[in-house]
Amino acid sequence: MLKNNGKKTAISVACTGCLCLLLLVVAVQHHRVQVTEEADGEDAAARSVPEDSARLAQDKKGFSTYFTKLTRGRREVEKPARTSAAASDPPPAEDISATDIFIAVKTTKKFHQSRLNLLLETWISRNMQQTYIFTDGEDDELKKKIGIHAINTNCSAAHSRQALSCKMAVEYDKFIESGKKWFCHVDDDNYVNVRTLVKHLSQYPHTQDLYVGKPSLDRPIEATERLGENKMKPVNFWFATGGAGFCVSRGLALKMSPWASGGHFMNTAEKIRLPDDCTIGYIIESVLGVPLTRSSLFHSHLENLQQVSRSEIHKQITLSYGMFENKSNIISLKGAFSVEEDPSRFKSVHCLLYPDTPWCPPQVAF
Ligand SMILES: *[C@@H]1O[C@H](CO)[C@@H](O)[C@H](O)[C@H]1NC(C)=O
Ligand SMILES: *[C@@H]1O[C@H](CO)[C@@H](O)[C@H](O)[C@H]1NC(C)=O
Repeated sequence: MLKNNGKKTAISVACTGCLCLLLLVVAVQHHRVQVTEEADGEDAAARSVPEDSARLAQDKKGFSTYFTKLTRGRREVEKPARTSAAASDPPPAEDISATDIFIAVKTTKKFHQSRLNLLLETWISRNMQQTYIFTDGEDDELKKKIGIHAINTNCSAAHSRQALSCKMAVEYDKFIESGKKWFCHVDDDNYVNVRTLVKHLSQYPHTQDLYVGKPSLDRPIEATERLGENKMKPVNFWFATGGAGFCVSRGLALKMSPWASGGHFMNTAEKIRLPDDCTIGYIIESVLGVPLTRSSLFHSHLENLQQVSRSEIHKQITLSYGMFENKSNIISLKGAFSVEEDPSRFKSVHCLLYPDTPWCPPQVAF
């Protein structure tokens, strides 16, 4: 029972892409503290972890072990991607532009100031037409900046599985309504290089079944599907981590409709009791049998961002940033702004990609 619960918790952590939660769970597992099935939110996980200094040391150890594991996992996962990339820039299958992509940014009201404004100043400022912000509260300032593209989902502001799935369900419905060719989901701590995103997606016809992203584990996730009262079925599938961003072609999104549209997404998520990004993976891989197309160009704060090569930063599709015990996990970039002025490095990345931005220092040699 204990073991089973631990596993379930670990799985839901990998899905939601929350580093803090993960660290807590690592500690929880070490000490075999029982976590109830309802312990999905950060609060619940936090409650079960005593705060002694030995525990903090353990967290730190868990953190580096986790990074090592993740790096190893990623190397494995990247192998096939590298081989196919060696064919180098295949001709585009379709001539798409940025306006063909629907970029959903998932946020919550408490991050409108601290996280969203940075995105609005940087990459979103160049991509207002294709970016939609999914939040959980009214914000007149936000509406002034992006108008009807600020969507209040009316979902709960909790970081619970249900609240996250509720937002994903609205993202899906709005994408279908938009008529655009590609659905891409990112978090409010992602920088999106829309030019490389367009180039990458143009390799594939949007009418075919495509699910593109970075797997967050080095093996398929093992979950349990509830078939009815007491019937359970084990399922294995890969999923793209939501914290790094992922994209789904319209052709595939339409096929997902019976499990994703209207209220169905929430029901599907409840059936397997996993967070939003895992549920997407479940519908696509497990139900529809479409494999995840792996890309190492998507990055979340759960990986060691120092490992993104400096000279390749402009080739990445998404970037991220994060904090751990006052130490930042950020890409290594000697850019237009110092780390003090630009802790996430997103302003520096933006000036690298769009040097004509008015607030970028002129003629900076990188
Ligand atoms: C949220 O609630 C408001 C007010 O009832 C409504 O106008 C809006 O359409 C709702 N949003 C969604 C995504 O359903
Ligand atoms: C992080 O920094 C703050 C402010 O500088 C400090 O109060 C806090 O104790 C630090 N926390 C850790 C874990 O070092």
